[in-house]
Parts: sequence; structure tokens; C-alpha cells
Amino acid sequence: MLTKSEFAARILNGHTPSIKEKATAFASANIALVKYWGKRDSRLNLPVTDSLSIDLGSLGTETTIEHSPDGQDTVILNGNKLAQDDPFAVKVINFVDLFRNALNQAAANRPALTITTNNNIPTGAGVASSASGFAALTKALDQFFSLGLAGRELSLLANLGSGSASRSIFKGFVYRHAGTDPDGMDSYSEPLPCTWPELKIGLITVSAKAKRVSSRDGMERTVATSPLYKKWPDQVKSDLAKMLDAIKAKDFELLGATAESNALAMHECMRAATPPLNYFEPETEAIISKVQKLRKEGLPIYLTIDAGPNVKLLYLNKDEEKVRTEFPDMRVVNR
Ligand code: PMV
Repeated sequence: MLTKSEFAARILNGHTPSIKEKATAFASANIALVKYWGKRDSRLNLPVTDSLSIDLGSLGTETTIEHSPDGQDTVILNGNKLAQDDPFAVKVINFVDLFRNALNQAAANRPALTITTNNNIPTGAGVASSASGFAALTKALDQFFSLGLAGRELSLLANLGSGSASRSIFKGFVYRHAGTDPDGMDSYSEPLPCTWPELKIGLITVSAKAKRVSSRDGMERTVATSPLYKKWPDQVKSDLAKMLDAIKAKDFELLGATAESNALAMHECMRAATPPLNYFEPETEAIISKVQKLRKEGLPIYLTIDAGPNVKLLYLNKDEEKVRTEFPDMRVVNR
């Protein structure tokens, strides 16, 4: 089993860096239509199952890397300069070190960097910024060191920051392979060659508070204690087959029904853990009931929910006015 540093070195060895003055990259956030929940290797963030997502267009992270004028690594998040020991800054610098170390930057020649990262995801939109954050950082590092890495390599590296970041390297529908290699070299993402402009995503914020249990801890608890987790890999396999058919045939009902039942099954698995893991708020439950009622009344609308209380609605462009009337607080994702 590799360490993160060894994994990064495997990919970066053989690349000769040429350092630029400055590099900027953007990555979109994404939501999984078939979720990733559970790691087969927690050190390398390798997932138990494949997953499939769609990007959130203009919502995401822009990251700039440049030389630090004062010779000190600095992280600026949404305009605020972070303390050296701030947990986010430490995470970012550790990630940058995977590149600096693998690229053999001799101490004297090791550039001190300023990393400026801005999330345009509206605060409290209930969309994780770690996926777009680590994807943008990976792309910016690739450009800063003039590495010219392929998309697959970028997705393998972004995964070291967060599992969902691997998918944010690409736009559109993205398929993440769990892979079986113990070293994780086959655990990459790739874009699917399909577009579906009529498919719309609406975000409903129930709570803007940080989640009570991180996805890392939540996954560990679910895998270790939930009796329902045994069935999860099979559910994902069957949902992925349906989702791929739905995307290919532009079958919205199949896409929506599959995404919704996959998300609800993930949350059931979590609630069966010890102690139970419940990310929902009462308002989450109320929105689920409302969506299911509207659907019974003939409005084709579905939902998906990540590790938090916030709801993402899935509908077709033709129904946007009706969906907006029912959910006036919804933010429409601009894709
Ligand atoms: O990438 P992480 O560690 O934040 O985990 C993502 C977990 C879910 O958002 C719930 C599902 C997914 O596939 O994105």
C-alpha cells in the first residue's frame, strides 16, 4: 500500500517541471447522481464503489498560485489570509507539498507559494467546496509547474485531496472508477461523451451550518457498523447501469428516480449505523414529502441529497416556472 507521497511521486516522476510566475485554474463543483460512500483505502481515499456525477457549471472554485514575496507559504481563502496553523491552510500546503516533494524541488530551489482560492459557491448553498477546491488546486499546480498532465492523472491526484474532487476535474457527466489496484492507479474519473442541456439542477438550502460529522468520519462509521452497508455496493452497481441507460436515452424519469432512490438508500445506510448518522433536518423531510407529492400530482421532479440537510432538485427546463413557484427559495444552477 502506498502513502499519499508515494502515490503522487508515481504519477509525477518523469515530469520535468518548469516553474511559471503565476497560474490560475477554475473547477466546477459537482453533485453525484450515484453516490460514493465508503473507502476501500482510507489513506489514499480510494472508494469502495464507482460513482457518477454532474458538474455545477459556474459554481466552483478559482485558485491562483504564485511566488510568495516574503518567502513564506501563504493561503488566502475568499479574501482572508489564513494563519499558518489554520486547518484549511495546513491541508492546502500539505497537498502542494505532494507536488513540490515529488518534483524534487531542492530546498534552495523550493518555491514559497501564495495560494489564493475563491469559492463562488454562494455561502450556505449546501454544496461542498472541497471537490471544486482540490480540483482547482490540482489544475493550478499542473499549470504552475508546466507539467501538462492528462485529465486522468489530474483526477488521480485531485482524489488525494478529496474523493469527490477527482470528478470535478471534468465537466458534464463524469464517471468515477473505484478500481481494484491496491496502489489505486486505476481509481480515476473520466467524462462521459453525453450532454443534456435540458436537465436542470436547483439548490435548496435548509441549513448553512457546517456538517456535524465529516464525510470521512461518516463513511468510516457506516462501513464499520451499518448492517445495510453490505447491500450498498450492489445497489450502486444496479443504479449505475440504470443511470448510464438514462443518460444515453435522455430518459429523465429513469435518471431522476435512480438518483433519488440512490441518495435515499445512502441515507438509510447511514441511519442504520451505530450510533445512527442522520444528516437530515425536519425541513429536509418536509421537502422530500413535497417533492414526492408533486410528482404524484404529475410534476416530473426528483431530488438528491449529500452528507448534509440540503436538497438538490432535478427537473427539466420546460418545468422551471412550475418548480420555482413551488420552491421560491431555490437557486437554479447555471450550467
Ligand atoms: O469527497 P468527499 O469525501 O467529500 O465525499 C463525498 C460524499 C458525497 O458527497 C455524500 C457523495 C459523493 O459522491 O459526492
